[in-house]
Amino acid sequence: MGADSAASHDEASARRIALVTGAAGDIGRAVAMRLAGDGIAVVLADHEAAADRLDETQRRCAAMTGASATTTTFDVTDAGSVRDALTAVASEYGTPDLLVNNAGYQGRFANVVDVPLDDAARVLDVNVMGVLTVLQAFAAQLREEGRGGAIVNTASMAGVAGAPNMVAYSASKAAVIALTKSAAKDLAGDGIRVNAVSPAFIGPGAMWDNQVARQAEVASAYYGDDPATVARQMIDQIPMRRYGSVDEVADVIAFLLSDAASYLTGVNIEIAGGAS
Ligand SMILES: NC(=O)c1ccc[n+]([C@@H]2O[C@H](COP(=O)([O-])OP(=O)(O)OC[C@H]3O[C@@H](n4cnc5c(N)ncnc54)[C@H](O)[C@@H]3O)[C@@H](O)[C@H]2O)c1
Repeated sequence: MGADSAASHDEASARRIALVTGAAGDIGRAVAMRLAGDGIAVVLADHEAAADRLDETQRRCAAMTGASATTTTFDVTDAGSVRDALTAVASEYGTPDLLVNNAGYQGRFANVVDVPLDDAARVLDVNVMGVLTVLQAFAAQLREEGRGGAIVNTASMAGVAGAPNMVAYSASKAAVIALTKSAAKDLAGDGIRVNAVSPAFIGPGAMWDNQVARQAEVASAYYGDDPATVARQMIDQIPMRRYGSVDEVADVIAFLLSDAASYLTGVNIEIAGGAS
């Protein structure tokens, strides 16, 4: 972990600190930059394998006015690593009171009959157990200190409506929505709000490119067999006739973390251009 800020622990406990997982990715980076731009200290987390892209997020956040940024790497499914990282962050930087629980894995695209079960298990592990593991470690720290906070879990419209060729991903994101509602009830007494966002198609970026290419490769009643056709068919599902931007997702997450959402908990906001 390399902190840019020399703020003391006492100063740190008084300021807002946001832990953002999946911060090397497109949405995580946009959220981190949005929060940093608001003057919130950000702790940027991702898998060790994404360390280079994580450093790039850190550079961009540190360049924002009034921001400080630090990085930490862990696999969200490794509870010991998650706890160790959060303990190190708390002692060196301050205990985060905001969590963007955003790391996610789309998995292999295949019809439900063909889906590789080991890959489906990994999707569920990262997207459900990973979200639960980070949420638990984060909330335990705040409860220990008797402080409130706010959490936003990144779900998906796939979890609301079910996406073709994405059975494990869809199931995992439905679980994130249910997990959010349940955790909101468990943590309301601690002053910790828990909400979710469900983006539809977000682009441009790695996930958009990947899902357009992968859907084109899989025989399906829903999509054609070339990426340009799939892209058009996806956009045609959206009443606003465009994909959303990462900044539009970041705006909603920043709102849910802010005091402007102080009476919202257990809510899932669909960021979907009118799709449902
Ligand atoms: N982009 C979209 O169209 C879209 C739509 C709906 C929901 N989402 C969700 O938004 C979130 C962010 O997506 P994105 O578009 O930025 O994707 P992305 O692939 O750019 O970013 C995901 C990040 O999660 C990290 N990650 C994956 N597995 C991890 C693990 N086990 N431990 C730690 N980090 C891990 C990756 O390294 C990556 O940096 C995901 O949860 C995704 O499911 C994305």
